[in-house]
Amino acid sequence: MTQKIGILTSGGDTPGLNAAIRGVGKACMSRYGMQIIGFRDGFRGLMENRTMVLDSDTLAGILTLGGTILGTSRDKPHKMPINGKVVDMTETIVANYHANKLDCLVCLGGGGTMKNALRLKQAGLNIVTLPKTIDNDVALTETTFGFDTALGIATDAIDRLHSTAHSHHRIIVVEIMGHRAGWLALGAGIAGGADVILIPEIPYDVHLVAEAIKRRKQTGKPFSIVAVAEGAISQEEFAAQQAAAARKKEKKAKDPEPELVYAERTLKLARQLQLLTGLEARPTILGHLQRGGTPSAADRLLATRLGTAAADLIESRNYGFMIAARGETSLPVPLEEVAGQVKTVPPDHPWVESARSVRTNFGD
Ligand code: F6P
Repeated sequence: MTQKIGILTSGGDTPGLNAAIRGVGKACMSRYGMQIIGFRDGFRGLMENRTMVLDSDTLAGILTLGGTILGTSRDKPHKMPINGKVVDMTETIVANYHANKLDCLVCLGGGGTMKNALRLKQAGLNIVTLPKTIDNDVALTETTFGFDTALGIATDAIDRLHSTAHSHHRIIVVEIMGHRAGWLALGAGIAGGADVILIPEIPYDVHLVAEAIKRRKQTGKPFSIVAVAEGAISQEEFAAQQAAAARKKEKKAKDPEPELVYAERTLKLARQLQLLTGLEARPTILGHLQRGGTPSAADRLLATRLGTAAADLIESRNYGFMIAARGETSLPVPLEEVAGQVKTVPPDHPWVESARSVRTNFGD
């Protein structure tokens, strides 16, 4: 009996998703003679049974396309917003899986998708996942597709910001995506030669950042590039967050101070650095530019490798795994081991050490 496979993309879009859809689809169909259908807009499309035909025509010409031809959403099966209410739609999703006579559902997503995929596995579905995110923060895989493309875009942005910072003798604070992990800001910061890199894993002291910028000024470099991850926080804010978490644990919490949202933190940081250094500071929020457009060659390759490996695993009727990237090959990792984990930057990671060796400041 040939198998019938469903595929969906969930979470923020990422360059390389279409390359992965193509990799899974072509290998499933042409190599193994399976049938494949797409579900639109993530788990919401599966819940609403909105499908898309995936055949050799729809899969042709999508390797280089950004975004996802299936559409995506951040909706979760067990917390689906419907008419102003949040409803557990797991049963409907399970029913639609069976109504479509699926043998396996392939979910392309990041950390949130891995958790949702595990829940569906526990509800009895055969699931295989692929790790995508520009944040590179999915556990137990060396990398995720989308990261390399975003790294290139963010590095290019830093290169361009350098010449304007230099010409105006300014500080440019450039916010780079990554709310839980600083891989993208760290990688682009190193590749672009940022003078300061701030990441969530290393809470910073703004005074130490300002001192580093002033030292550069004293040595004839009155401009600086500060690459800051969305989720980077000051040591003060970190301490406040820890205290709030402890209070919450003790159930003493009343009305916690609302957290600053990412761009607000970056604007505040630029203002503080201007005041502390006497240099003009300008913020640049790269935002969704980092997720748009055509995937890099490395992401196309990775997405194709992982997508075709998913087809091989499904052919052998092994389900319940994420296909992780390991060196030149791939490895199925049980969803139980991946879900709920975040791959953050170890503060002594070799990239951090290298950056410190070229005198990059981390505000610590
Ligand atoms: O999916 C990861 C990510 O790119 C994060 O870096 C960023 O915080 C988030 O998505 C933004 O998501 P949205 O597009 O839903 O605002």
